[in-house]
Amino acid sequence: MGAIIRTRGLTRRFGELVAVDGLDLEVARGEIFGLVGPDGAGKTTTLRMLCGLVDPTDGSAEVAGHDVARAPQAVKDRIGYMAQRFGLYADLSVRENMDFYADLFGITGTERTDLARRLLAMTRMEPFRDRRAGQLSGGMKQKLALMCTLLHRPEILFLDEPTNGVDPVSRRDFWTILYQLLKDGITIMMTTAYLDEAERCNRVGLMHQGRLIRCDAPEALKRAAGVETLEAVFVGTVRAAEAAEMP
Ligand SMILES: Nc1ncnc2c1ncn2[C@@H]1O[C@H](COP(=O)(O)OP(=O)(O)O)[C@@H](O)[C@H]1O
Ligand SMILES: [Mg+2]
Repeated sequence: MGAIIRTRGLTRRFGELVAVDGLDLEVARGEIFGLVGPDGAGKTTTLRMLCGLVDPTDGSAEVAGHDVARAPQAVKDRIGYMAQRFGLYADLSVRENMDFYADLFGITGTERTDLARRLLAMTRMEPFRDRRAGQLSGGMKQKLALMCTLLHRPEILFLDEPTNGVDPVSRRDFWTILYQLLKDGITIMMTTAYLDEAERCNRVGLMHQGRLIRCDAPEALKRAAGVETLEAVFVGTVRAAEAAEMP
């Protein structure tokens, strides 16, 4: 299957700091890819470059057939990006938040009504459609953010630590929805700090200090490095060089 995301030497500097350092990565159409690493590894900066929100300082990335630096708008039209702190309006209801984002994307009429109905059913949020976003649980807020991200029918979904701070039951719920989206043909790239979540991805890239130190199926990564090493990478105690040298 062809790659729907492809980066070559993708790099982002902030002054002296190299936040993302020469990333070479391919994500196949229809897969769920997890970018895993400790705080400051460069996960968010990578996603923001792939979404056309931050310019690379070096290298390139092609997303859904478009170069992110040359055609950021074409990329934005084809993707959904759920930021770590997604902007919901606390005083607006679930349905009003969805309408707000539908307006932003220019989704109107029966298309809007049909899509909203389907999304509310899929996420089982229908009973809460009139509840104010500020009154929702953490898990329900994440579902609402996800629905708002899906309103313009993106081909690729970028999720930045979507279940961070969400209770285990809601996390499981959220994953059920992600698998449904995969079945519908959406490609998903997410970041996470949770080991069990990384294991649910088709492939995982381990990031450390801006570099991709390993990239493989989760089972293969575990076989190669041992669970202890993987866990150490997650808490950021293994130096990149050491991890990269593991047999
Ligand atoms: N806008 C910015 N200006 C300066 N430094 C930044 C900026 N955004 C991110 N960084 C730095 O880049 C590094 C990677 O950050 P980030 O991509 O947010 O990592 P992660 O999402 O893995 O925690 C961090 O050291 C962070 O402080
Ligand atoms: Mg981040």
